[in-house]
Amino acid sequence: MALAGLENDGLILIIFGGKGGVGKTSCAIATALELSENFKTLLISTDPAHSISDCLEQHIGFNVREVSGIENLAAIEVVADEALSGFKTEHQSELKKLLETSTNLDNEDIDELLTLSIPGIDEVMSFKTIIDFIEEGQYNKYVVDTAPTGHALRLISSPKLLDEWVKVAARMRWKYRYMITSFSGNYQQDEVDSFLLSLKKTVKRIENILRDNTKCEFIPVCIPEAMAIMETGRLLEELGKSEIISRQIIVNNVMASEACGFCKQRKAGQLKYIRQIDETFTQLNKVEVPMFAEEIKGLEALNQLRMCLFGDMERR
Ligand SMILES: Nc1ncnc2c1ncn2[C@@H]1O[C@H](COP(=O)(O)OP(=O)(O)O)[C@@H](O)[C@H]1O
Ligand SMILES: [Mg+2]
Repeated sequence: MALAGLENDGLILIIFGGKGGVGKTSCAIATALELSENFKTLLISTDPAHSISDCLEQHIGFNVREVSGIENLAAIEVVADEALSGFKTEHQSELKKLLETSTNLDNEDIDELLTLSIPGIDEVMSFKTIIDFIEEGQYNKYVVDTAPTGHALRLISSPKLLDEWVKVAARMRWKYRYMITSFSGNYQQDEVDSFLLSLKKTVKRIENILRDNTKCEFIPVCIPEAMAIMETGRLLEELGKSEIISRQIIVNNVMASEACGFCKQRKAGQLKYIRQIDETFTQLNKVEVPMFAEEIKGLEALNQLRMCLFGDMERR
C-alpha cells in the first residue's frame, strides 16, 4: 500500500502526528518532496525541536526558505514565541485598549499581564501562522510536521481555545459597551470590536479547513510497538471528537530482513503488533515502511523513504 489521495484537488493541509521518535518528521518531509513534483508545496514544522533542518541537512528557521536542490518546495520552522510576539506587536494597541476598557488594571498591570504566558497560546499562534499562510495562498499544499501527540492535539484544539478567549473578551467588552450606551445612549464600534471580530473569523477559518475532509487530512505515524499503538489510539479518538479525518496510517520501522538471528527475532516480535494495528485501526489504510539500516538524513535517504511511501517513481 502507498499513501493515496494527497494529490486530490482541494486537499491543501496534510498534518503528520504521533508519538515521539516514530518518524513524523521524516515522513512529512518525504511527503513534501513527493508533492513538490506537481504542486507548490510549503513544509511547516510546528515542533519546537525543529528537526526539519537536521533531517534536510540545511538551515530552515523562522522564515520561509526555498529548500535548496528541490524545485517548488519551501519550508519554515514556526517558532511559537516569535509568532506570539509578532502578534502582540501587531495588535498591541487593541490588546491594551481591551484591558483598559474592560478591567480596573492600571497601565503597569496591563503591561505585566501582556507578558504573561497563557496556556495553549503557543499552539494557537502556531496554528494561526499556518492558516495565515494558507490564506495568502502562495502554495497548493501545506504539509505540517508536529511535535509528539500532546502538542498535535493542542494544535488541533486551538480554534476551540481561541474561541473561548474571544468569548471571555467579548463578555468583558459587553459590560463596557453597556456602560457607554447607558451614559451616552450611543455606542460606536471601535478597533477592539473589530479585532475581536477578526479573531472570531480566524477561529471559523481554522475550523472550516480542519473539519473539511476534502481540505485537510491527518496522517498518524506509528511503529509496531505497544506504547506507540496505544498513543495512536488515543490520538485517533481525539481527532474523531474534533471531526478531523484520517484515512491512512503509516506503520514505520517494520523489520524487513531476516538475515540474522537478531533481525529474525525483531521481526517475529513485531508481527503481533502489526496484526494489532490491523485489528485496531480497521478503518485506515496501512502503509508499511521498512526500517532502514541507517537514520534518514539528507535528500538521498529521504527520497528512498518517499519511494516506500508513494511507490517506485520509475514504475509509476
Ligand atoms: N524507517 C526508518 N528506518 C530507520 N530510521 C528511521 C526510520 N524512520 C525514522 N528513522 C529515524 O528515527 C529517528 C526519528 O525519526 P523522526 O522522523 O525524527 O521522528 P519524529 O519526528 O516522530 O520524532 C530519526 O533519527 C530518523 O532518521
Ligand atoms: Mg519530529
